[in-house]
Amino acid sequence: MLKKFQEALDKRKEAGILRTLKPKSAGIDFYSNDYLGLAGNKELQAQLLLKVQENPTLLSGSSGSRLISGNSTITDETEEYIAEQHQYPAALLFSSGYNANLALFSSLPDRHNTIIIDEQIHRSVHDACRMSHARKLKFRHNDPEDLESILKKQTGPCFIAIESLYSMDGDLAPLREIAALAKKYNAALIVDEAHAFGVFGYGLIEKCELQNDVFASVITYGKALGAHGAAVICDETVKSYLVNFASPFIYTTAAQDFLWMAIKTGYEFLKQKPELPEKLHQNIEIFRNQNIETPSSELSPIQAVLVTDNQQLRSLQKALFDNNFLTYAVYSPTVKEGTERLRICLHSFNTEKEIKQLTGIIKAFL
Ligand SMILES: Cc1ncc(COP(=O)(O)O)c(C=O)c1O
Repeated sequence: MLKKFQEALDKRKEAGILRTLKPKSAGIDFYSNDYLGLAGNKELQAQLLLKVQENPTLLSGSSGSRLISGNSTITDETEEYIAEQHQYPAALLFSSGYNANLALFSSLPDRHNTIIIDEQIHRSVHDACRMSHARKLKFRHNDPEDLESILKKQTGPCFIAIESLYSMDGDLAPLREIAALAKKYNAALIVDEAHAFGVFGYGLIEKCELQNDVFASVITYGKALGAHGAAVICDETVKSYLVNFASPFIYTTAAQDFLWMAIKTGYEFLKQKPELPEKLHQNIEIFRNQNIETPSSELSPIQAVLVTDNQQLRSLQKALFDNNFLTYAVYSPTVKEGTERLRICLHSFNTEKEIKQLTGIIKAFL
């Protein structure tokens, strides 16, 4: 058994794509999902610290799953608050976005249903599809025509899975067109807003006013909110169904109340600081004005620079690292072979000088 594992690892090592865990490096952050700098925001930390001092039981362990001993008034209140903020009837908290997607797609579709996914959907949805008994079909990335050609052929109930802002290409879904197709073919549209939340207000569903056309959405709190955890936003029936049938919700210990409090405080903080997303969008504009070729949206904090030669990609990342810039090189199998890229994440706290230095090095290299 071990021999088989070692061979697979050796193969990765030979290809130069062995994943290893390293402590966080010091440097200028162009790789984290902390788009608004909230993960280390001192003011937010002070607000949280005050809440913990007033109520130290926030730090207590939850002691069990939500259905046994792990539910609390704070959990319920946070869910109510989130639902209200997103103008949906209900919200259900999870300890991660991975778990939220796993819960949704493993439990809602049954063996008579079809899940139609964008080919670039996050891995958590693929894993959930493997847990469900439904049929999985893929449509071409961000291509409503291809989606419609698949929807036309279906006879049974369908779910459609998309992200509003894709994490690898940094491009936006044609949300209005896809929502219209979901309506036309009576399919349940589920939108993962992991990267859009906090960057575009509460996400693109809210921006496009599509609350009534989206069956459910996933908001994650480990990215722009700088915390951890996630919520499924949906109606009361879907929430109750997940509570009853979704294994990733039922069979796990609830998070500590501190997490739910951090999420609620994060929402309140976002309202106090409209200048943070404004600054982020100014930085995105500065980056885009440097004319680096990219498939990413001009509005996206994620900017992908395709470098399909692995050796060249490694050297580019190293050159940036040597100049104190932290970026993320994405190799296959995280992305399709031939679409390897340098993934740059922009933040509200990056400076114009840093962005220009970074892009200068990239341009000299390409
Ligand atoms: C689109 C998308 N969905 C879901 C997740 C998972 O969220 P979390 O990191 O909270 O588990 C991620 C993060 O990797 C993501 O990029």
